[in-house]
Amino acid sequence: MAQREQLYQTAGQVDMSRLPRHIAIIMDGNGRWAKKRGLPRTAGHKVGAETFRKVAKYCKRLGVPYLTVYAFSTENWRRPKEEVDTIMGLLERYLHEAIDSMARENIKLCFLGDLSAIPAPLRALIDKAEAISRELDSPYQANICLNYGGRDEILHAARAIAEAGESFTEENLQRHLYSAAIPDPDLLIRPGGEQRISNFLLWQAAYSEFYFCDTLWPDFDEAALDKAIIAYQSRDRRFGGVK
Ligand code: IPE
Ligand code: IPE
Ligand code: MG
Repeated sequence: MAQREQLYQTAGQVDMSRLPRHIAIIMDGNGRWAKKRGLPRTAGHKVGAETFRKVAKYCKRLGVPYLTVYAFSTENWRRPKEEVDTIMGLLERYLHEAIDSMARENIKLCFLGDLSAIPAPLRALIDKAEAISRELDSPYQANICLNYGGRDEILHAARAIAEAGESFTEENLQRHLYSAAIPDPDLLIRPGGEQRISNFLLWQAAYSEFYFCDTLWPDFDEAALDKAIIAYQSRDRRFGGVK
């Protein structure tokens, strides 16, 4: 109850008429969260997956149509095989559950990244989740970046332009990004204490507002998102112009 009251207080400070349309999050700090508790890093990924579910529901409750999360980067293959396998396994489990509850939760799921390198059983679940999403009549969409790298995405788009013999314009390149159908993020949040982009949404974040906090991703909650949105609402977005 106390937590709910606290949540309500911060929610009361969010200007519901000026919400970001798209929030992107680098879900970082799972490993350190686990280490602090003397647990294996994978325990942090388990709790982190729950945090994603919670935050996606909260975005819907607030009325933020697009949420994009960084789940696995093109560089994360450098981690020990056991950790990579656990992350892929957790994604499988998450998707099994999500597929069952998708119609009820009414949040579309979309995957961004080079999915050709993703293990076949997980890819089959991704295809299924995306097929169900296409049937959903919902304004809410959660995008999960998997084997995603901003540089890989731009290269992939550039190759597609070259192969199609199109001219290299900003519009054409944008059309070939994994995120082609999604507006650019207004707010980009990185919990976990690091202040870097780590190859996330390099093209799309050109004019995003950045918000960094020390909260480790498994501890991130509704109140933490409120705080980020309140900070975002205090920013003056000029897009290179003058007021
Ligand atoms: C983010 O948490 C999850 C992934 C990158 C898959 P980390 O695993 O990077 O956690 P830290 O940064 O080591 O604490
Ligand atoms: C970024 O976090 C990738 C994801 C959250 C999926 P990392 O933990 O991989 O980033 P670095 O290594 O600290 O830059
Ligand atoms: Mg990290």
